[in-house]
Amino acid sequence: MIYDPYSREVQEDPFPTYAYFREEEPCHYNPKMDFYSLFRFDDVWDATLDWKTFSSRLGPALETRSEPPPEHVPSIIGMDPPRQVKIRNLLSKGFTPRRIADLESKVRRIAARYLDEFVEAGGGDIQAAFSSKLPMDVISVLVGIPEEFRSGYRRAVERALMRDPETGLPVPPEPDALDTRAMLLDLLKQRRSEPREDLITVAAQSEFEDVDGVRRRLTDQEVVAFIGLLATAGSETTVKLLGNCVVYLWQHPDQRKRLWDDPTLIPGAVEEVLRYDPPSQFQGRVAGRDVVYHGVTIPEGARVALVTGAACRDPREFDDPDRFDIDRQPDRELHFGYGAHVCIGKSLARQETRVALEEIRKRFADYEVVEEGLTRTYQAHVRGFAEVPLKI
Ligand code: HEM
Repeated sequence: MIYDPYSREVQEDPFPTYAYFREEEPCHYNPKMDFYSLFRFDDVWDATLDWKTFSSRLGPALETRSEPPPEHVPSIIGMDPPRQVKIRNLLSKGFTPRRIADLESKVRRIAARYLDEFVEAGGGDIQAAFSSKLPMDVISVLVGIPEEFRSGYRRAVERALMRDPETGLPVPPEPDALDTRAMLLDLLKQRRSEPREDLITVAAQSEFEDVDGVRRRLTDQEVVAFIGLLATAGSETTVKLLGNCVVYLWQHPDQRKRLWDDPTLIPGAVEEVLRYDPPSQFQGRVAGRDVVYHGVTIPEGARVALVTGAACRDPREFDDPDRFDIDRQPDRELHFGYGAHVCIGKSLARQETRVALEEIRKRFADYEVVEEGLTRTYQAHVRGFAEVPLKI
């Protein structure tokens, strides 16, 4: 058996495959795609902490094989400490608890507007009408992306992650796709002359001491790489989380009822949806040295998938892991990654999702999912629904 994350079978339902590999072949080599995978919770957890053995320097896409050319400027997800830590610290100023808390009223206003329109329309596909819009709007407010670019940006990000489920190959960009790099460079130029209260300005102005001890600002290319990463990492994943919440709560009506009766349970329910079906199913790494797992040698330079989706259903870590249970109180979580690269936007994603559920509860608590209309996206490491039609 082969673990092929882009095959239709795994894209539709990866959990039987994960269960097989977790038990039978916890360190597996896929000869067709030439990469190794780790499936158990402890293995993935330890690997995320050991960045020297499991380096991020080739970035998250398993397809990337060679070192990027020197002119390529990676974002922090494609870097290792210590430079990754320095740049990350600089930009995490945009994600302090205060900044996130200050955003809540804006998040609620945006959510309420789309949900009111959804109710007026009498229901329909909540992914198109709401889930796919809220995260990009929120990131755009934080970052400073004007309204007219948001839907083009979101489409470009969605498309860049797509994989053809028959061939496993990336899907080419749309012919009229927005040139996101050019747009960001343009915005950066504007912010340099006219600073604003947004993350592009923070990124443009902050100074830091680089690994060679020299104090400097980020270059234009570095700012664009980081801001581009926020839009990629923060939008598609949160879109999928919102859709998963709607579907999995509907599939568990008793738990949904308890949640609606007592909204203080919402944060716990969001964590369970994340564990049950993580929007980011695996994290790409490259082996920094030969390393042996379960009798299999992963050679230096090999690409490795840390399969979070499988780890989050490991019975060694979670009781009865295939059961959806909003009352779980897990000791450890992997759905936002862990270690040096742990998700920078996790508080924001949690807040958005909590607010979304609170607003849904006020408007159409008894919604029904039209099950035969559910479809999935076929994307690299991101998993979730494309269409979630609701009767409200
Ligand atoms: C449900 C929503 C989200 C999920 C499931 C998620 C998941 C993850 C995971 C698993 C990682 C670790 C990647 C690795 O180890 O290579 C990560 C990193 C990251 N996430 Fe998120 N994320 C979410 C939302 C967001 C949001 C809203 C933002 C920003 C606005 C964001 C920005 C980032 C960034 C910048 C990184 C890279 C951090 C680094 O390399 O140091 N994410 N995310």
